[in-house]
Amino acid sequence: MSDTEIKSIQWFPGHMAKTRRSIKENLPLVDAVVEIIDARIPLSSQNPEMGRMTKGKPRLLILNKRDMADSNVTDKWISYFRKQGIVAVSMDCKTGKGLKVFEKALEEELLGELIKTRREKGMVGRPTRVMVVGIPNVGKSSFINRMSGSKKAKVEDRPGVTRTKQWVKLGNHIEMLDMPGVLWPKFDDQTVAHKLAFTGAIKDDILDIETLAMMLLEYLADNYPSLLLSRYKMETNGLPGKDLLTLLGRKRGMLISGGEVNTERAAIMLLDEFRAGKIGNISLESPVSSKDIKENEDG
Ligand code: G4P
Repeated sequence: MSDTEIKSIQWFPGHMAKTRRSIKENLPLVDAVVEIIDARIPLSSQNPEMGRMTKGKPRLLILNKRDMADSNVTDKWISYFRKQGIVAVSMDCKTGKGLKVFEKALEEELLGELIKTRREKGMVGRPTRVMVVGIPNVGKSSFINRMSGSKKAKVEDRPGVTRTKQWVKLGNHIEMLDMPGVLWPKFDDQTVAHKLAFTGAIKDDILDIETLAMMLLEYLADNYPSLLLSRYKMETNGLPGKDLLTLLGRKRGMLISGGEVNTERAAIMLLDEFRAGKIGNISLESPVSSKDIKENEDG
């Protein structure tokens, strides 16, 4: 992929400026910011401007989709963030696992002091107010639906809050400011773009699907060879991505006339299966640098 192609998809200045304004305007109304990221790519799915945008407001990170990630690696990420003083929890919004841990981390670890002070001042029963942000596809809506039950429970307007500000109940004590919390990922380097494409956070029709599949296969061959063996009966033996993709297509009988492999079909199948979690529990980034996605040599 050329630099120009990356530039055209990497940054959406109009959207970002709007979100930035909205966060800035609403920050004084909340006690904390909850940022949802993808447990498989905790760095690439974070918005690098978040810290600056939220200007010292307590921030909690949710590593969502933990059911799809490698649990050993997710645990390492949680320790990694916590060592930096960032409260982080992992969650699976498909089943709702981790919701209780989230509530505890928010109300005891992150905001314990604030809640205690409020209680001492007689402000008992005041809800904890948060804003929820994250890049597309990390599971913001799933999280909100899980936390609020099937229906989004709107909260009455209250004094001091203008009519346009809507609060959604997330459980008994927590309220979320209903605002567009969609951030855009920022990727200056290609590997971040590729990881976002693997997980489906950015559309793959703007990237070459076969190149993506080759890179994913090389990463899997380096880091999760047993998963390739068990799902596709593929012995990887240090093969380059191009050969891995051909082998995959052959294993799945994806042939075109003349016995050649339909590598495009194989690539689409691989990415679909990866995104559906069918290959196994896979993390694409690790805090202790495992072999990373290789740069596409063709640029
Ligand atoms: P967004 O608001 O941040 O854009 O994300 P959204 O909640 O729409 O979730 C994006 C996709 O990720 C959805 O799948 C959703 O079901 C899935 N998802 C969210 N959280 C989790 C999780 O913890 N684990 C797993 N495995 N998947 C999760 P979809 O294919 O777009 O829709 P559908 O499968 O719900 O029909």
